[in-house]
Amino acid sequence: MFQAAEIDKIIGQCFAALTFKPFPEHLYDPLRYMISIGGKRIRPRLCLTAYNLFSDRMDKSILKPMMALEVFHCFTLIHDDIMDNSDRRRGQPTVHKKWNNNTAILSGDVMSIEAYTLLSEAPSEILPEVLRLFNDTASKVCEGQQLDMDFEKSSVVTLDEYLKMIGLKTAVLIACSGKMGALIAGAPRKVCDAIYDYGYAIGMAFQIMDDYLDTFGDPIIFGKNIGGDIVSNKKSWLLVYSMKNAASEKSARLQEILAMPVGSDGERAAKIAAMKELYVGLGVDSAALSEIEAYHRKAFAALKDSGLGPQQMERLKDYMESLFNRKR
Ligand code: IPE
Ligand code: IPE
Ligand code: MG
Ligand code: MG
Ligand code: MG
Repeated sequence: MFQAAEIDKIIGQCFAALTFKPFPEHLYDPLRYMISIGGKRIRPRLCLTAYNLFSDRMDKSILKPMMALEVFHCFTLIHDDIMDNSDRRRGQPTVHKKWNNNTAILSGDVMSIEAYTLLSEAPSEILPEVLRLFNDTASKVCEGQQLDMDFEKSSVVTLDEYLKMIGLKTAVLIACSGKMGALIAGAPRKVCDAIYDYGYAIGMAFQIMDDYLDTFGDPIIFGKNIGGDIVSNKKSWLLVYSMKNAASEKSARLQEILAMPVGSDGERAAKIAAMKELYVGLGVDSAALSEIEAYHRKAFAALKDSGLGPQQMERLKDYMESLFNRKR
C-alpha cells in the first residue's frame, strides 16, 4: 500500500501532465485554468485510496478514471458558479467572471465530455459497470442542483428535503469516487457497496461543512466569498436548521432577514451580518459541527462487516479524518 502522501504525489503528477487541445483557446483555456488552480482533489484521493486497498498497480486504467472524477467535478463547479452567481473559487476569479457566461457554459460542456474520454480508459471488462455508475451519478448531480435552485425560491424546506438534495448534488459523486476505485481494483462486491455507503456519508458531512464554511469560514483560506448562501437565500444546513428550531420571535426575525434586499454591497453585508448573528444566537454553528461528526461516525460504521481488514479500515479512517477539520 502507498502512503497517503505518495497517493497525493501521484495525483499531482497526473494533473500536471493532463493536457487539453490548444484550439479554440477560449474553449479550452478555462479547462486548463480550472485544473491549474488546484482544489483539494478529495474525489481523486478517495478513488486512489480505495483502489490501493486492493492493488498497487498505478497504471492508466485507474489513473485516467481517477482524473475523470475531478474533471467532471470541475465541470459542475463552472456551471454551479454561474447558477450561484459566485465570483471566487479556489482563491481565484470564477470562470464566468474571468471570461463570460457563454464561455463558462460551453467550456463546462466540453469539460464534461473530456471526463468521459478519461473514463473510457477503465479496464474493458469493468467499463460497462463503471459507466452505469458514473452516468447514474452524473444525472443525480443535475437533479440535486435543480432541487438546490428550486429551494432558493421555496419559503420552507424541511431537513429531509435538504438531506435528499445534498445527497444528490454532492454525496453521490464522493460515493462514486470510492466505489469506482474499488471496482477497478476488482474488490469484492460487498466491499464496493460498503465503500459507496461510506463515501455517501462522508459526502453528506462534506456538504454540511461547506455550508458551515460559507458563513463561518475565512474567505482567504476557504477561497470563496463568504456569505454567498445567505445573499441568495440558499437553503443551507444552517438555514434549514434555523427554520426548524427558531421559536416564534426568532422565526419572525428569520423571515425579516430573508426578505432583506441585496442590491448593493452595503445591503448584502447587512444581510450577511444579521443572519450570522441569528445563527450564532441559535447555536447553529455548533449544531452543524455535531451533525458533521455524526455523519463521520455513520461513514465508518458503513465499513463494519464489509470484510475489510484492520489496515484497510485504518486507511479509510485516515482519509475521513483528513476531511474533518478542514478550513477550505
Ligand atoms: C466544492 O467542492 C463543491 C462542493 C461539493 C461543496 P470542493 O470543496 O471539493 O472543491 P475543490 O475541488 O476543493 O475546489
Ligand atoms: C455545489 O454546492 C455542488 C456542486 C457543484 C454539484 P455549492 O454550490 O455549495 O458549492 P460551492 O460552495 O459553490 O463550492
Ligand atoms: Mg450551488
Ligand atoms: Mg456554489
Ligand atoms: Mg457551498
